[in-house]
Amino acid sequence: MPGKRIAVIGAGVSGLGAIKICLEEGLEPTCFEGTNDIGGLWRYQETTSGRASIYKSATSNTLKEMTTYHDYPSPDYFPNYLHNSRIMEYLRRYAQHFDLTKHIRFLVDSMRKRSDFSCTDILVETTGKQESYVFDGIMVCSSLYTGPILPLQNFPGINRFKGQYIHSCEYRSPEKFQGKKIIVVGIGNSGADLAIELSHVASQVYLSTRRGAWIWNRVWDNGMPMDTVLFTHFKTILNKFYPTFLINRWAENKLNARFNHDVYGLLPKHRYVLATCGDDLPNHIISGRVLIKSDVREFTETSAIFGDGTEEDVDVVIFATGYTSSFPFLENNATVLDSQHSMFKFVFPPQLEKPTLAFIGILQPVGATIPTSELQSDFRGIAKVFCCKTYVKLTFTVSEIVPVQYVEYMDEIASEIGAKPNLPSIFLWDPKLAVEIFFGPCTPYQYRLAILTQRERIIKPLRTRTLICDQPPSSVPFWLKSACAALLLFALTLIIIKG
Ligand SMILES: Cc1cc2nc3c(=O)[nH]c(=O)nc-3n(C[C@H](O)[C@H](O)[C@H](O)COP(=O)(O)OP(=O)(O)OC[C@H]3O[C@@H](n4cnc5c(N)ncnc54)[C@H](O)[C@@H]3O)c2cc1C
Ligand SMILES: NC(=O)c1ccc[n+]([C@@H]2O[C@H](COP(=O)([O-])OP(=O)(O)OC[C@H]3O[C@@H](n4cnc5c(N)ncnc54)[C@H](OP(=O)(O)O)[C@@H]3O)[C@@H](O)[C@H]2O)c1
Repeated sequence: MPGKRIAVIGAGVSGLGAIKICLEEGLEPTCFEGTNDIGGLWRYQETTSGRASIYKSATSNTLKEMTTYHDYPSPDYFPNYLHNSRIMEYLRRYAQHFDLTKHIRFLVDSMRKRSDFSCTDILVETTGKQESYVFDGIMVCSSLYTGPILPLQNFPGINRFKGQYIHSCEYRSPEKFQGKKIIVVGIGNSGADLAIELSHVASQVYLSTRRGAWIWNRVWDNGMPMDTVLFTHFKTILNKFYPTFLINRWAENKLNARFNHDVYGLLPKHRYVLATCGDDLPNHIISGRVLIKSDVREFTETSAIFGDGTEEDVDVVIFATGYTSSFPFLENNATVLDSQHSMFKFVFPPQLEKPTLAFIGILQPVGATIPTSELQSDFRGIAKVFCCKTYVKLTFTVSEIVPVQYVEYMDEIASEIGAKPNLPSIFLWDPKLAVEIFFGPCTPYQYRLAILTQRERIIKPLRTRTLICDQPPSSVPFWLKSACAALLLFALTLIIIKG
């Protein structure tokens, strides 16, 4: 339906994908971006803004083949896990290739959604100038992560502490922490990354965790990237068939085989659900450069006293305690953002009378963000829903913003829009493709079928010294693949005979 005008708020990875999908659907997007550039969180800046941000060395913990849009793979020579500068390079190429920048209004000072949500007029202010726009729909791509969580109230004595304390979003690089005694509080990905990096220059790093964590690493079996093994349809189906306690035991045994989490002081109270990516953490613990400590009970002027009663002198505290989520543009309106952020598939707020608002990228996938955001934008629902004058009744599920299983969520949204690969039918006309979809990493191309070269792109940046043997290692033994393929064929035959 041409001509429908869509406002896209934010030009990070979610906003760029949203603009592109709008154009594909024949809609007219206008993107409003607060800063002077694209890239959002992935654009490293020397200065901090008080918003969520990345440090100079930040490197993705999601495979490059996953951290892409469905129709624009990363160059094959890019490494498997990308430094932020590479991700920006990729995003700039993407924006240029699809000519997206001309749809973006940069340096928007403030935006306000006027009146209620039955109509979609937006007041935009740029350098003292006010402009008013009317849209048919708004896609909010302003990020799940906004401000820092700095839980000082939970740390008695922090006000009398004479050293320096910062949130991880203010950290840029290690130079100025040379020779310091540092506590990093929190063992999410930020905490693990910072503790490892700082331990190269600090006189001592303490990593304080109240719950502990399961630590996984990017380099998985046979040296293959973790995502190629863990985020597959095959694994997702296994997860459905096997009882959770068995899956947990398998995963925990696997992680403990690398290093015993109990011995290393990391064993969490929770079973294996979410893990922190910390390739180098055990190496730094075993060499004493990072010492794992329990929660901080209180600070004195010069030291920290931990839950186990031990006390250590400290110069710097880095709170790697995560991020808040807020939508000032919507004035944190309770009509659309209830306390549980209940939204249909994390996209549509259920309470609105008219479907004028969609949230993109406001979820935490256990896996890459680009494909999930892109598929959300491609929720043909959005184009259709926005283009309908009458409200489309949807069944809403209430769910908090909790980690979402990547493959399951991708399949769920893809089913809604009719883009989920139909394995039995693909198997009939292209068994090789079906096997790659089933056993291979669940890349965004699977939902548009352009995947047969994904393994070559994973292997190429690793194989910088050419050997005679040319067989890329596979995470699943050949006999198992063949057995599953035969089973699939058998099931298909049965279906055909019955039908
Ligand atoms: C330290 C860190 C590392 C991460 N690593 C990974 C990883 O390895 N892989 C992965 O998949 N994900 C990772 N993530 C998750 C990350 O959030 C996503 O990859 C991705 O950046 C989300 O993109 P986005 O477009 O939704 O949000 P952002 O990248 O934050 O972009 C939002 C954009 O909206 C703009 N904006 C916000 N409010 C307004 C407004 N009112 N008006 C105008 N413009 C506005 C902002 O300026 C910004 O440009 C990481 C997150 C953090 C914090
Ligand atoms: N390399 C990468 O790709 C990379 C790097 C950094 C971040 N990220 C991503 O960025 C997002 C944010 O990660 P993050 O590590 O900044 O935050 P996070 O995942 O929310 O982790 C926050 C940590 O702080 C702890 N914490 C919170 N409040 C606390 C309190 N009051 N007292 C003590 N500890 C407290 C939490 O402990 P509990 O578990 O006990 O609650 C948790 O360990 C995630 O999606 C992450 O994957 C990715």
